[in-house]
Amino acid sequence: MDKSLSSRPTAPRAVLFDAYGTLFDVYSVALLAEQLFPGHGQALSVLWRDKQIEYTRLVTTSNHGAHYLPFWQLTEAALQFAIKKIAAPAIFQSSGGPLNTENTAQAVRQLMNQYRHLSAFPENTEVLQALKTKGLPTGILSNGDPAMLDVAVKSAGLGELLNHVISVDSIRKYKTHPDAYALGCQATGLQASQILFVSSNSWDALAATWFGYQTLWVNRAGQPFEELGTQPTRVGTSLRDVLSFFH
Ligand code: LAC
Repeated sequence: MDKSLSSRPTAPRAVLFDAYGTLFDVYSVALLAEQLFPGHGQALSVLWRDKQIEYTRLVTTSNHGAHYLPFWQLTEAALQFAIKKIAAPAIFQSSGGPLNTENTAQAVRQLMNQYRHLSAFPENTEVLQALKTKGLPTGILSNGDPAMLDVAVKSAGLGELLNHVISVDSIRKYKTHPDAYALGCQATGLQASQILFVSSNSWDALAATWFGYQTLWVNRAGQPFEELGTQPTRVGTSLRDVLSFFH
């Protein structure tokens, strides 16, 4: 018997998606950051995202989770940090005075409001619809807290197309903790190897692969993958590549 054929993974029986950057387009946030802090929008949004993820790891791995905060609060804390680090010194230098506290608070409010109402990538609806037509259960498995995810799903008009919206908030541990990935198995009643997990975050695709999911890394930005010796099951450039698992 051809071993490569016998060991080929079977087609997934459910598809779970990461939320931010994967289903929901965070680009509009960078545009607004650039309007608010001209010349610093890109750097600000990159640091904001990196800090947000760093904080998830910090609270998950430190002091037995005693410092857990919901994702919305970590996101706002990360934004405060990014503005202090990048935007405030730059404006201080150019205007000769410190960034006004009221202006900063207003910018935080505007950016957080934008983050709450992200749009979905344009191909999402057709891909989710195609999966539904095939009878495959779909869901989100995200660090986002339930209130954030609820607004994002409704704003993007995806409610009818998702069977599960799973937040790690119920266990107060963020991805990449294995208990967070295990929520997908619990919700679907399937083993990890029967589920396709889709993320545009390389660290998320890597850890989901380590956990045992079949994985698709949606590499929209042409980035290198993580250098830790494990590859995702497949790499794609848009959510449409999910459908290649079912041919
Ligand atoms: C999420 C972040 C990590 O939705 O994108 O879980």
